[in-house]
Amino acid sequence: MHNFLLFKRHWMKWIILFLSTLVLAVILSHTLNRSPSLSYRPTSSNQPSTESYPITNVTTDEVQVQSKYDRSLAHYATVSRSDGSFRQMFVNEEAITAIQPGEPLPDGTLIVMESWYSPENLGTVFVKQKQNGEWRYGSFSLDRPNYQMRFSNSCHSCHAPFPKTDFTLTKPLLEAALQTRQVQTAYCDRAGRTPCDPTTYIPHTSDSSSIF
Ligand code: HEC
Repeated sequence: MHNFLLFKRHWMKWIILFLSTLVLAVILSHTLNRSPSLSYRPTSSNQPSTESYPITNVTTDEVQVQSKYDRSLAHYATVSRSDGSFRQMFVNEEAITAIQPGEPLPDGTLIVMESWYSPENLGTVFVKQKQNGEWRYGSFSLDRPNYQMRFSNSCHSCHAPFPKTDFTLTKPLLEAALQTRQVQTAYCDRAGRTPCDPTTYIPHTSDSSSIF
């Protein structure tokens, strides 16, 4: 009898320990899932589909505000690369009226750049936002939607040689797009993410198709 009670107490201890671990695990997994500020998490309704990005007729696209990543963004430029990849740049609706040609971009300007390996294959999405006169950077992908915005030297390094355009390589394209209401296109003859000469990002208004 005594032995049996001891045995029971022994097991009760383990069962209680097991149950409390289980409860703790459930609580933890719930709090971890609720990670803060996922403001750009792409929703299923705006999963990129190749249909909505017909790369062949981007030249005739009009700059229009659309909902993307839970934001109101306007597609302003597409930069194609010699390796077949291309990037699509978007600006937030709020900044559109505040942007003055030739001036630094206003605080609050948010630029989102989608990196496409091919028309079917979306890679990393790059984000930058101006806050208190300084650019903050972040990036995410559809399978890794969590990210933080912060000043990043590794991001800024490639943008740093472009102070005339507020460290924004595609600023001339952005201004032209807002003025003409047409999505601008540019071609950079280098592969990957290597910056091209600044003139690459200046729109060729006379005959933009000749650069292809
Ligand atoms: C290897 C150089 C390089 C690095 C590093 C780099 N960028 Fe860029 N970025 C470019 C180039 C070049 C462009 C212009 C588009 C093009 O030519 O493909 C650009 C354009 C952009 C744009 C569009 C607005 C603009 O400035 O023209 C955003 C947004 C952006 N980059 C964000 C980022 C973020 C965020 C990081 C860090 C995670 C980053 N970049 C790191 C080269 C780089």
